[in-house]
Amino acid sequence: MKRNIIISAFIIITLTFSSCASRSKDEVEIKIDDLLSEMTLEEKIGQLTLFTSSWTQTGPTMREGYLNDVKQGKCGNIFNAHTAEYTSELQRIAVEETRLGIPLLFGYDVIHGYKTIFPIPLAEACSWDLDLIEKSARLSAKEAAAAGLHWNFNPMVDISRDPRWGRVAEGSGEDTYLGSLIASAKVRGIQGDDLKDESTLLACVKHFAAYGAAQAGRDYHTVDMSERVLRETYLPPYRAAIDAGSATVMTSFNELDGVPASGSKYLMTDVLREEWKFRGFVVTDYTAINEMIPHGFAKDTADAALLAMKAGVDMDMQGGTYLLHLQDLIDQGKVQEAAIDQAVRRILKAKFDLGLFDDPYRYSDVDRENQVVLSKEMMDHSREAGRKSIVLLKNDAIDGKTLLPLNKKPKQLALIGPLAHNQMDILGTWHASGDASKSTTVLDGIKEVAPDIDVVYAEGCKTYGEDRSGFAEAISVAKRSDIVLMAVGENYRQNGEAASRTNLNLPGMQEELMEAILDLGKPVVLILMSGRPLTIENLSQKVPAILNTWHLGTKGGSAIADVLFGDYNPSGKLVMTFPRNVGQIPIYYNMKNTGRPFKAKDKYTSKYLDVANDPLYPFGYGLSYTAFEYSDLSLSQSTMRLDEDLNISVGVTNTGSRAGEEVVQLYIRDLVGNVTRPVKELKGFKKISLEPGQTQLVEFTISAEDLKFYNQDMSFKAEPGDFLLYVGGSSDADLSGKFELIN
Ligand code: BGC
Repeated sequence: MKRNIIISAFIIITLTFSSCASRSKDEVEIKIDDLLSEMTLEEKIGQLTLFTSSWTQTGPTMREGYLNDVKQGKCGNIFNAHTAEYTSELQRIAVEETRLGIPLLFGYDVIHGYKTIFPIPLAEACSWDLDLIEKSARLSAKEAAAAGLHWNFNPMVDISRDPRWGRVAEGSGEDTYLGSLIASAKVRGIQGDDLKDESTLLACVKHFAAYGAAQAGRDYHTVDMSERVLRETYLPPYRAAIDAGSATVMTSFNELDGVPASGSKYLMTDVLREEWKFRGFVVTDYTAINEMIPHGFAKDTADAALLAMKAGVDMDMQGGTYLLHLQDLIDQGKVQEAAIDQAVRRILKAKFDLGLFDDPYRYSDVDRENQVVLSKEMMDHSREAGRKSIVLLKNDAIDGKTLLPLNKKPKQLALIGPLAHNQMDILGTWHASGDASKSTTVLDGIKEVAPDIDVVYAEGCKTYGEDRSGFAEAISVAKRSDIVLMAVGENYRQNGEAASRTNLNLPGMQEELMEAILDLGKPVVLILMSGRPLTIENLSQKVPAILNTWHLGTKGGSAIADVLFGDYNPSGKLVMTFPRNVGQIPIYYNMKNTGRPFKAKDKYTSKYLDVANDPLYPFGYGLSYTAFEYSDLSLSQSTMRLDEDLNISVGVTNTGSRAGEEVVQLYIRDLVGNVTRPVKELKGFKKISLEPGQTQLVEFTISAEDLKFYNQDMSFKAEPGDFLLYVGGSSDADLSGKFELIN
């Protein structure tokens, strides 16, 4: 009997909410108001609560009895639960067993794929290919949505200039301009054109804000910076994601200027809602409200819940503080019920936008899941995205001939290293439900792409520990071969969340293994897999060829083999500077000049005694199997008025013998400012494809908008004056022009 009443309640609500596709926003709002008027305070607070399922643990706590919470209407949202079957089961509980039958929202970290894994975000950013990045986001949303998910905790857009921080793997690197474009591309990919389309998910831009600037690269650590740096360098990618329509925002763990983000009214209300007009809902990161206590900002969980609510946080992830305290806080008059209603409205609106009130099970479709998950479309894209993410760092000629690409004629190849035939590590950090049994390793890839090659594999050592017992076998395999491929680097746990490192050399015994193999005098190709730039100066001086492959995902091994054997000509360019050693960090391309810029022979200039100022490999850098030459840089005018555009063109010629792609990059330098400006700032790029001998004229346009910055009064404007402009295939481009901006 009770069940029938519940079902009828759900049906009434469903009917009231059904066929809302054609309704205007106002009508939806009215329906939400009607629903709110039916809800008890406890049911409202349940909508503001998100708990993890017991399937995966992505943070320090678990909650026993989350199913009961759902049944009792105390939890309106679940994360880390997936598959059509399990989400249907949970949804059934919410819809059939709670008084109002409000559907659950299912969230998950689909950072670079759900079950089919694409390259880690840092890798994929190196493609500088926004369409490719959007497609990866689209396809991973499609796959995840088929497995019952509604909400993706992605994109992670934290700018970071510190490779000690393990989470650089999840972001798009050090540059604000590129990072902002990638942020929008990902939101477009995740949310598609219409959230009602059941292959789309809600995006969640994170971690707001400035999490990537954690002191000394230590995870969860303090962030403190000027408002100018915050606004100029760190905030724009979040803003870009919001402008692209990101439905939700996640707070960050860090404090900023002494205030933990989840308690920051400045961030969550003043900037996000008032300045940026964000209309969606804000969720905390995992137990971030509770963490305001050890931060020293809240005295207990009640205080923390109050601070978060007052700051403008709508949903508590995993902390249970809203559930525990909001009722009392209202009774004590510290929180107004209207504030709760506002937050509930935002969350219900998202459920509405997804069509969950039309059909709460529309995402949980076993047939669709079977068709889409790990389908050929996903696998092909994993390989394609993988090839485009690889960066060729070095390819020196030996006896007049470069080692790469290898030819496919029979010869003996040694493939050595802990990452050469490892199906799990190639998936990288945050690989969601990535199915390692479907991964192609480097060994598999070589056998697939060059079946006539005689390849012998030896692990040599692990990515960790001190065991050298595999060295002898590796050395003997190497001795018998013509060329040695060394697949070394980080395993998937050596970067990502809670995986900061102060030593960025190859971990474990790998560097020693490399040295032992190099001592044999064989030609060696270094296949470097990692989730961050590693310090490889020593090795870079000894090996003739280096492919930085990052962690490429399910078809990573095939992608690597495609590049090794020249079926794909590498075109990736670094989005994060490779330091020579850890002491240079933070090191990034758009630093300031200082009052005593580097001069090798002058003691009193800004430099180190023990290491050069320049990085090992700069931002924007990456080689190809062909070569490109830049010429004929031309500017439409040498003076530009504030209301005018400046057109820039440059000739790019493929001077080698293979077709290839080049990322043509445009940088500017504002020579004198009311506040000092960086030595270079990326302002445009184009990825082009050229046949051997072909020349293309590449054009850019810049306007005063591109020259704006925050001056001493924090007004954002362009200042008249002289500018330098650089064009080339890397941030150390030296083909330059000059123009003057006039009023
Ligand atoms: C991470 C977030 C993630 C969340 C949920 C946290 O530990 O910082 O990026 O979305 O867990 O899994």
